[in-house]
Amino acid sequence: MKLKKNNTVITAATKKLLVMAAMLSTNALMLHAQQLTLRLDKAETEVSPMLYGLMTEEINYSYEGGLYTQLVPNPSFADMFNPGGRRRGGRPNPNQPRYTVRPERWQLTDTVKVKVRQNRQNGMNDANPTSLVVNFEQAGLGIVSEGYWGFPIRKSTAFKGAIYAKQPTTDNNAAPLTSLTIALKSADGNTTYAEQRVSGFTNDWKKFDIELTTQATQADTKDARLFITADQAGSIELTRVTLYAPSYKNRKNGLRVDLMEMMAEMRPKFVRFPGGNYLEGNNFANRFDWKQTIGNPDERPGHQSPWGYRSTDGLGLLEFCQWAEDTGGEPVVGVFAGYVLSGDHLDGDYIKPFIQDALDEIEYIMGDVTTKWGAVRARDGHPEPFPLHYVEIGNEDFFDRSGSYPNRFKMFYEAIKARYPQLQIISTVGYNALKSKAIPNPVVDVIDEHYYRNAFDMYRNAFQYDSYDRKGPKIFCGEWATREGSPTTNMNAALGDAAWMSCMERNSDICIMSCYAPLFVNVEPGGMQWASDLIGYDVLNSYGSPSYWAQVMFSKYLGDRIVPVEATDIPKQKLDRNDEANAVFYTATKDANKTYLKLVNAVGDAQKLTIKLDGAKKVKSKAKKIELKSARPEDTNSIDNPRNIVPKESTQKVGKQFPITLAPYSITVLVIE
Ligand code: AHR
Repeated sequence: MKLKKNNTVITAATKKLLVMAAMLSTNALMLHAQQLTLRLDKAETEVSPMLYGLMTEEINYSYEGGLYTQLVPNPSFADMFNPGGRRRGGRPNPNQPRYTVRPERWQLTDTVKVKVRQNRQNGMNDANPTSLVVNFEQAGLGIVSEGYWGFPIRKSTAFKGAIYAKQPTTDNNAAPLTSLTIALKSADGNTTYAEQRVSGFTNDWKKFDIELTTQATQADTKDARLFITADQAGSIELTRVTLYAPSYKNRKNGLRVDLMEMMAEMRPKFVRFPGGNYLEGNNFANRFDWKQTIGNPDERPGHQSPWGYRSTDGLGLLEFCQWAEDTGGEPVVGVFAGYVLSGDHLDGDYIKPFIQDALDEIEYIMGDVTTKWGAVRARDGHPEPFPLHYVEIGNEDFFDRSGSYPNRFKMFYEAIKARYPQLQIISTVGYNALKSKAIPNPVVDVIDEHYYRNAFDMYRNAFQYDSYDRKGPKIFCGEWATREGSPTTNMNAALGDAAWMSCMERNSDICIMSCYAPLFVNVEPGGMQWASDLIGYDVLNSYGSPSYWAQVMFSKYLGDRIVPVEATDIPKQKLDRNDEANAVFYTATKDANKTYLKLVNAVGDAQKLTIKLDGAKKVKSKAKKIELKSARPEDTNSIDNPRNIVPKESTQKVGKQFPITLAPYSITVLVIE
């Protein structure tokens, strides 16, 4: 049969062709419909210059046994090992026998012929009231520091430190020792990496400097211990045994090179410190008392971290500020607000000394050398004031049940603003709690919100800030993470993180600052208190999780203007029976010459999109493409397989309009010129 249309004779075969063509064009339209239009012509809103930063605290052996280069745990023998008692919150269990046989994280080469006793009298100074009296029955016996699961032995490395020693006055029966040998050796004691003899002990405490340098031919190993060995039979009293690895930028009392390099790669605009729960402490005595964390590290008493172990406070306020400086950012300091984790708090006039303490702390950070605390900072080796624009009052104070928060915040706010009107004050109660606690909006400059979520929750909330009130306070997302994978997060988490970062970046007019938490974990058994962390390490090596690499990609490729993106027919994914979210997430920014488009495909199927650049005058035909992907969302990096998932660079054909296929489970950045 023949059909006639507009005087054209149409055969059945032609009709079939026409139907196929119509189908094809519908497909083409459908393909076309999954489109992102980048309104380059409307890119006016500024990207927050403080958007991506860092946050850490003393958790997961982040400083002690992590970032801080002092390598000897329990250096003043403050903690004794109680064989009957489990440790809870750093204290021996009171229901167990109270006898002790050795200091924690120290071993004896012979448990019969080496006798040790903790001395709590006549300490070398107020900060180190404890010492260890040791009696060696014969030469060659020793006490051995386990380190933080070993020591980082590498070739041609100078480890510098000291011991404080004296002849014991309380051990009159034994002959005083005349010399000791300090050595880095393999755990079995059979291989010596470096050693030094120390002699000249007297009846008074004296400092003996140590420098242990490894050979040029030395292979990397963490199979190492610090041996303090008697050269004769006799007694000695020891305290404050320290050994420092080389540090980033050769800072004295500095920070670990590889971890600092990894953070510098993240281009942080700030470091939020000191916490986290670490700011508050379990009780008043164990809050972060900044004045106890400055000056000579040998004179810092240290305190218990709420995460179950002791901090020496060797990484204190000045080291925090230098860390920010050395990685290219500025400090964001949290000041103690009178709440501790046990729920105890001080109020009214009792809070006033803490307000003064906060003002002193701010002065230590940013005051010039003519101010009282600026002069102390200069004495500590840093005459230049640090830049400081944001001060946070407390941490997660929405936990408060006493109803004292609004008044307390106001007192801090007014005192700080009166002295430093230029500072922005951050409240820690979160956006919704802020309303319920009836804090008048104009009093709050910025609100710190914390989000620990699974990947699905990140997808569900990946447009959260698009609808925030632009007239309200700014947001600091001061702790956030997609908690998938342990000890460090996996690709599934990286996808959730990237979806969340796309939200923060697209809305960085309101979400002006953000930092992931926790940043670090020591992956040795017993090193972790909080599963799902960004960067893992042992004493020798370190690696970034896929989440780490996602953050590097987001902060490295960032413009100064937000590009509005119009999305059409973006594919969806089912989260559960009644719930769905986008399968693809996106954000774009630009600067004078480049556009940075970030695309996240959160599902296991490739996604085809059309990208349209509205307002682009000329576009180079090839864009740089940076891609992070894996076959399975549970894939990850580890200390043994550190670079399983890392970003790969290639090129992508682009134009004013171009198709792109996003690989399954992938994060893609295009740099379009
Ligand atoms: O990041 C771990 C903890 O989570 C922080 O110490 C605290 O602020 C939050 O509850």
